[in-house]
Amino acid sequence: MTGTPAPDYATAMRTDRCGDLRPGDVGRQVTLCGWVDRRREHGEHLAFIDLRDRSGVVQLVVDGAHDLRSEYVLQVTGTVRERPADTANEGLATGAVEIDASEVTILAVAEPPPFPIDERTEVDEVLRLRHRYVDLRRPRLQRNLEIRARVNSAVRGAMEEQGFIEVETPMLVASTPEGARDFVVPSRKEPGSFYALPQSPQIFKQLCMVGGVDRYYQIARCLRDEDLRADRQFEFMQLDAEASFVGQDDVLGFITHAVSAAAEAITGERPGEFPQMSWHEAMERFGSDKPDIRFGMELVDLTHVFPETDFRAFQTPCVKGIRVPGGADMSRNRLDDLTDRCKAWGAKGLVWMKVEAGGLNSPVAKFLSDEEQATLRSTMEAEVGDLLLLVADEWRKACHILGLVRNDLGRPPVTEGGLHFLWVVDFPLFEGIDDAGNPIPAHHPFTMPHEDDIDLLDGGDLLAIRSQAYDLVLNGWELGSGSVRIHRRQVQERIFAILGIGPDEAQAKFGFLLDAFRYGAPPHAGFAFGMDRLVAVLAGEENIREVIAYPKTQSGADPLTGSPTPIDDQHLKELGLRVLPPRQ
Ligand code: AMO
Ligand code: AMP
Repeated sequence: MTGTPAPDYATAMRTDRCGDLRPGDVGRQVTLCGWVDRRREHGEHLAFIDLRDRSGVVQLVVDGAHDLRSEYVLQVTGTVRERPADTANEGLATGAVEIDASEVTILAVAEPPPFPIDERTEVDEVLRLRHRYVDLRRPRLQRNLEIRARVNSAVRGAMEEQGFIEVETPMLVASTPEGARDFVVPSRKEPGSFYALPQSPQIFKQLCMVGGVDRYYQIARCLRDEDLRADRQFEFMQLDAEASFVGQDDVLGFITHAVSAAAEAITGERPGEFPQMSWHEAMERFGSDKPDIRFGMELVDLTHVFPETDFRAFQTPCVKGIRVPGGADMSRNRLDDLTDRCKAWGAKGLVWMKVEAGGLNSPVAKFLSDEEQATLRSTMEAEVGDLLLLVADEWRKACHILGLVRNDLGRPPVTEGGLHFLWVVDFPLFEGIDDAGNPIPAHHPFTMPHEDDIDLLDGGDLLAIRSQAYDLVLNGWELGSGSVRIHRRQVQERIFAILGIGPDEAQAKFGFLLDAFRYGAPPHAGFAFGMDRLVAVLAGEENIREVIAYPKTQSGADPLTGSPTPIDDQHLKELGLRVLPPRQ
């Protein structure tokens, strides 16, 4: 942590915090405030009580009859004394001392808590969230909130050191183009019209650049109506940044500095350089645009092994494989299950081969020539006892499916093995073609094509166009994304046209941005990374819920406040809304 002096915690009600007392305090009279953590009776009148506040616990020795129950809030005055040597608790920061309490005031009584405050008890998620204020008292969440605050502070410091200024952007906005569903807010003044809550400050930060802000940042709340997962909530925080007169490498530098500062604030160590990999290489080797580089099992290209194969399934543009060392003992059930999953992911099938002393054991071995089998084994460096898994398809699909298989079989929990950052650069501009024949932007429609590929916009292979977009990956999680933006109106209009967004629609949706570009837009680029995700990995948590004070459950509910809740008819009427009967 930084060298700022420790704050003074003394107030009108206390002299010290429980967890701060040490042998150097022996002999002092102190007044403490906190919650009754644990209580042990000793004889009729003597009780040992652990008093807890944010800083930790300290043992009180209370003489006399008191009805002090779990989670009562106390104010205690007493003298710090050394614990008898045989009762010292080395596992506790304050374990060498105790407080000989002379005065105990009950500030608040408490009902028995709905679950124990200790770390050892597994508590149902909904129960935890319903009583989040009790859950927050547990050491795990106290620690996570503290880590979160330190990460926020380190990131702010690092951005400001680099000359970025914080600008706040609105929460009631027009729809933003991040590709998720918007949360909307009905307008009372204009019934039938809605604000969208921002999926990101994307457009406003670009307008800040036109406005001469030069280096903008914000720890911004973003809202997206999408299915929740371990790394996704409806509401989340981004470190959002944008800068003018910069190129891609400048942005990578700014963000590397901020993320490194955050990591250092928590681990005490500055991470080394973040390696870079092109999107193409990431797909080719790991079958993912957010490769988890913590483990091997890399994809091997086998297309050249089967140029004229008789096996129909391999008569495709691309065949890829992975080798699972020692995987030959995988059960038939598991292999069938894996095959089914591949099909659900869009594969036509999955070929498995067990490498045995006598040759390849596989339902499809009979369709492969001896030469194909031999080349396959040598290309994959297969050894007896290995399992080989092959997918044939067009290149992108084959890589993608095997990337999922690789993660499924080998990926460690996100928190394991230290911090492995990776920049993925040179993303394609479009990630596919939709049913209407329009290309789908891989990032968002304001992303600048790669200078060398701009000509392909006019009649070339659209899917081959690279963009100046980049992602930051941490242990296989996408931590953030950004791009160099289009700052010329003509190029932006051209992209909209290619995306099938006609001039009228473009004007209606993003007219204000296109208009702004008429008035002198500087070249600019930016980035945003998920604070929740960064904090979770730094705190050793696999679900971002554990680092958010008041998160939603998997189904998007808040058991604490009961939201979402219906609103009454009068309110609906005021907003000009009518609710349809529930869908069957
Ligand atoms: P993008 O949509 O990739 O980019 O979002 C950036 C980062 O925000 C985090 N994130 C989330 N975290 C938790 N829950 C969610 N539902 C969620 N959705 C996204 C991720 C993600 O990498 N405006 C662009 C950035 C830019 O181009 O400057 C943007 O928002 O960590
Ligand atoms: P089929 O000829 O469709 O019965 O498939 C024979 C075997 O090859 C099955 O085990 C399929 O799962 C597998 N398979 C079929 N198509 C592919 C493909 N494109 N890539 C990998 N395996 C496949």
